[in-house]
Parts: sequence; C-alpha cells; structure tokens
Amino acid sequence: MSEAVPVDESTIGETPLVKLPLDAPPTVYAKVEWFNLYEQPYGGGSVKTRIGKSMLDAAADAGHLDDVPTIIEPSSGNTGTAIARLGGHRGYDVEIYLPPRPSEAKVLAIEDAGGEVTRSRTYERMIEDCAERVAEATDDACYNPNQYENPANPAVHERETGREIWEQTDGEVTHFVGGVGTGGTVTGVGRALHDRGDVSVIGYEPARPSHTISGLRYARGPAFDYPGTFDPSVVDRRRVVTSSAARRWARRLRQRVADVSLDIRDPGQHDAATVRNHLRVDDQFLVGPSTGGVLAAFYEHAMDGGFADDDVVVLMAADRGDRYTSFPDWADHSGSTA
Ligand SMILES: Cc1ncc(COP(=O)(O)O)c(C=O)c1O
Repeated sequence: MSEAVPVDESTIGETPLVKLPLDAPPTVYAKVEWFNLYEQPYGGGSVKTRIGKSMLDAAADAGHLDDVPTIIEPSSGNTGTAIARLGGHRGYDVEIYLPPRPSEAKVLAIEDAGGEVTRSRTYERMIEDCAERVAEATDDACYNPNQYENPANPAVHERETGREIWEQTDGEVTHFVGGVGTGGTVTGVGRALHDRGDVSVIGYEPARPSHTISGLRYARGPAFDYPGTFDPSVVDRRRVVTSSAARRWARRLRQRVADVSLDIRDPGQHDAATVRNHLRVDDQFLVGPSTGGVLAAFYEHAMDGGFADDDVVVLMAADRGDRYTSFPDWADHSGSTA
C-alpha cells in the first residue's frame, strides 16, 4: 500500500478545461477528468469518480446503505477505483469485479484503497459474476450501485459535467466528443448541452467486441444490449474506433504537445499552477486509451468535413495514461513512465 493520502471529496467536479494545440481550426478543448481526487495515487481519479460519488450519495440518501457493510460493483477499473476510494473512506468494505486483463495499475489502485478484486473470464461474465455474488448475499449484507442501470450516473453528468462545459466555454461549445461505456457521460453531458444550445454530441464505440479501449463497451449487434444508462437518442453522430487507432492518437497527442505550454482556458476549482503540475507525468501529456479514441473520432469527423472553422469542440479526457503502463504496447511508447 502507498502512504495514505487523505481522501478529499471536495476536489470532485469543476475540473479544468485545457486548450489542445491541434493543427487547424476548429478550436479544441479537453475536459480533464483526472483532476477529480487528483491527489490520490495511480493517476488521481477519472470521469468515473463523479459517478462513484453520485451513486453513493444517492444510495445513502435513499437509506440503501443503512447497516450495509459491503459495496459490490463490476467495473473496467475506474468506477471500481472510485468506489473503493470513496466507499473505503466512508467506512464500507468494497468488492470489485474486473474484466480479464485489467490494467495492473487499476488493480493496484483498487487494492491500495482497501478494495478486494475478483477478475472475471470475460467482460460480460464480469457483470454476471457480480450479479450472482449480489444475489447470493442476504438482503441487507451488500449494496450494488450498478453503474449500468443507476440513474445517478447520467444525472451527475447532466447536472455537473455538462453544465461545467457550457459555463467554461461561455456557451460557445458547438460539439462534444466522448466514448460510450455505460453511456452515462454522453447521455448526461448531451442532455445538459442540448438543453442549453445548438450542440452536437459525437459518441464513439469500440470497433470490435474484443478491444483494449478500457472503459468502453462494445454493444452493437443482436447479441448485445445497451445499458439502461445510455440514451442513444442523445447522440447526434456515432463513430466507431479501433483499439490501435485509440492508442495511436494518444501517442500522437503526447508528441504534439511535448514542447508546448498548454493554454488553460479555465482551471475549474483549481489554481493554474496546480493544473500545470498535474497535467503532465514526467514532462509528458499522457492520456488513457479512451481519450486517444476521442481524438480518433474527432479527426475522423474533421476529415468528413464535420466541423466549421469557428466551431468549438470539447473532448472528454477521461483519465491519465499512467494508469495503463502494464500494457506492453502502451508502455513501449510512454517514455519514462513505462
Ligand atoms: C477511461 C474511461 N473512458 C470512458 C469511459 C466511458 O464512460 P461512460 O461509462 O460514462 O460511458 C469510461 C467508463 O468506465 C472509462 O473508464
């Protein structure tokens, strides 16, 4: 275990908006979500820290956590880390079901927070294994937030993430690009932005069932269902991205911003110096594969003539790349953090 850093829930939300120096118009910003619980080890938090908090808050308010000792959740890693941190901090035992080949850094982050990890054989098995574990428990022995069905997931993105993006761009945002896992982010952010203005939501999904864009979920075709937290009608344009494109674009972004001082449009609840300190790891701007996929979807849309020069595009930067150093192909290209 690393030396315990106090969990400060007040750092969740109001994350920074950072301008990305890409080669041409439109103007592009990244909503940088690892500033949620940024002081925690293993790359801080992620976009899922928001739903970890909102699902636990909603459960507490509804009395679901009264006298319940254990919280159980299936997760590709980021929600699991958030629930382990926040649940542990609030006094619960936490058990997380992970898919096969999880990033070792995410396993360590969950265990570091005191969570217990079970690895399942497949992504779908992970959800079933967790459901069986919950069903076997006596009624009041555990609580399963279930990020795939919990309305507190899209709700926090509608109430907070989407509102923040609108305010941080002074209402200038014209497009939002994000990946679909539970679909909570694109659904909630999309609803907030559609309510406020003429904003187009681009949601991307992995191209194949077997993929390495951690956090995303393949759900096309008759064998798969979209989770209850995803409202496909909110997405104006859908794109598919391969794992190799996601990783390639994450590496390209790192190279592109290597020697550039990043322009912080709005530091959110932080000061600019804190943002600058935490944006880079060992001098590098390292994003996770799902953010690489967002860039891939953005460029594909741009190549199709989907943006005007004066558009303002916000890209979801869900987590930082140093959570993925256990992937060999990732580590090969991630310099000194490998
Ligand atoms: C790194 C990362 N990116 C994107 C997503 C997708 O977000 P959502 O579940 O809100 O669709 C997740 C979800 O776990 C994630 O961990």
